[in-house]
Amino acid sequence: VVNEVGALGKHIALVGFMGAGKTTIGRKVARLTERPFIDLDEEIEKRHGSIPKVFRERGEAEFRRIEEELAREFLRERELNVIALGGGAVTSEATRGELRRHAFTVWIDVDLDHAWARVCESDRPLARDRDAFAALHRERAPLYSETADARASDADDVVLRALQIVFAPGRLGSPLSLGERPIALVVDEHVARRHPLRLEGVASTHHLPPGEAAKRIDVVASLWSELRIGRDGMVVGFGGGTTTDVAGFAAGTYLRGVPWTALPTTLVGQVDASIGGKTGVDLADAKNLVGAFHYPLSVQIDTALLATLPEHERRNGMAEVVKTGLLAGRPVWDLPEERMVRACAAFKAAVCLSDPYDRIGRRSILNLGHTFGHALEAASDYTLAHGEAVALGLLAALRLSAIETDVVDEVLRPEPARVDPERAWHAMQRDKKAQGGRIRLVLLEAPGKPIFPVELADEQIRLELDRLIAK
Ligand SMILES: NC(=O)c1ccc[n+]([C@@H]2O[C@H](COP(=O)([O-])OP(=O)(O)OC[C@H]3O[C@@H](n4cnc5c(N)ncnc54)[C@H](O)[C@@H]3O)[C@@H](O)[C@H]2O)c1
Repeated sequence: VVNEVGALGKHIALVGFMGAGKTTIGRKVARLTERPFIDLDEEIEKRHGSIPKVFRERGEAEFRRIEEELAREFLRERELNVIALGGGAVTSEATRGELRRHAFTVWIDVDLDHAWARVCESDRPLARDRDAFAALHRERAPLYSETADARASDADDVVLRALQIVFAPGRLGSPLSLGERPIALVVDEHVARRHPLRLEGVASTHHLPPGEAAKRIDVVASLWSELRIGRDGMVVGFGGGTTTDVAGFAAGTYLRGVPWTALPTTLVGQVDASIGGKTGVDLADAKNLVGAFHYPLSVQIDTALLATLPEHERRNGMAEVVKTGLLAGRPVWDLPEERMVRACAAFKAAVCLSDPYDRIGRRSILNLGHTFGHALEAASDYTLAHGEAVALGLLAALRLSAIETDVVDEVLRPEPARVDPERAWHAMQRDKKAQGGRIRLVLLEAPGKPIFPVELADEQIRLELDRLIAK
């Protein structure tokens, strides 16, 4: 199912007042999502000379005409861009229309004092007099608000909102409305007991067994036959990664696709599983082999729910957190919980925006440490926790990258796996067959600089695999 949520299939356009930081934020969003960056004011200057000069010699009306023409040109480009528009661009009705049709528009909000401090010494024609500047700030706010699909204050915020991921600490403990659609609530049994949800408009509730036992096609088949919502309805998945994988897959297939919303309740769910549109179930001897892309209409992340998470489940999530920090080149594991989850969710959202349907290989970097991890999990008959396996896999990836392993040692403290080395090697060979005869690893040139694919000699890989296994 291909559904276009947020900025999928659309430009990301940044609007907002002078001095809001649209250019700086836009550049960062472009780098994170691997989209080209276009600064509309810069493009105007390239073609027509400096903006103060255009204002002086041709007047504001002519400047607005040029701005409108260029906005149309870039917003109609087929390649998906990140576009920062000038502060006054939204005064044009035509530009507002183009934005509605072709862009996911984010309002970079800034208060008057900050905006003035940033631009009062610049040569911007509309930033000469503080009272006039303040009046313009007041006047334009409703236009930004009317045009924008979301409001944000930094690059991570933009990327999160571009996949409709919302952080709302404590929100799921209060009465909650997700709009007008009748809701089929799909909830993990454990979670339902610990966190009763006061959700408006629930037409039916469906309990899933906790854990991987939920990710079976017969569980989905029961859901299909129990669901009573129409296409105007919505599935809501409330639980960890297994629940959101199943709820999303049921939503993606029932009536050939109804919308869904993810309410992830585990660290794995909040930093990884609920983000990026992959949904699905396991087959008897292989995980995640049947599924579909079906992006949720929104993901509501409430980190307060993590308070009840058992320690071993938190460790599973921390392995993904450390992986994300290594890929992003940011020590996210040192941040307070809310900010840590937000940074990781934003990183994954950006990678997914750069390759929403996993077609150009960019999402493969998210497998850092997972190739070795999968082999160890398989060799343990899945008794080894996923987080433990990933932590060991990260050790191997760092060693092969010639990078210190101290972060993994200190934050995750993995113990060598008690598995049969031959079985683990065999599992890796099976993966290799599935990948066209080669083991393609994600390694790091340095933290923040992933490289993929890397192919190494079997002997070298085997040596590292063996180092992860208890003697
Ligand atoms: N779709 C994706 O892109 C993606 C990415 C990563 C992982 N996954 C999938 O996610 C699954 C793992 O997710 P998970 O680790 O969240 O597992 P999970 O959903 O099985 O949850 C783990 C356990 O925690 C319990 N739990 C959930 N929330 C709780 C809370 N707030 N307090 C107390 N207990 C709670 C559950 O009942 C369960 O027993 C795997 O199946 C994996 O394949 C999917």
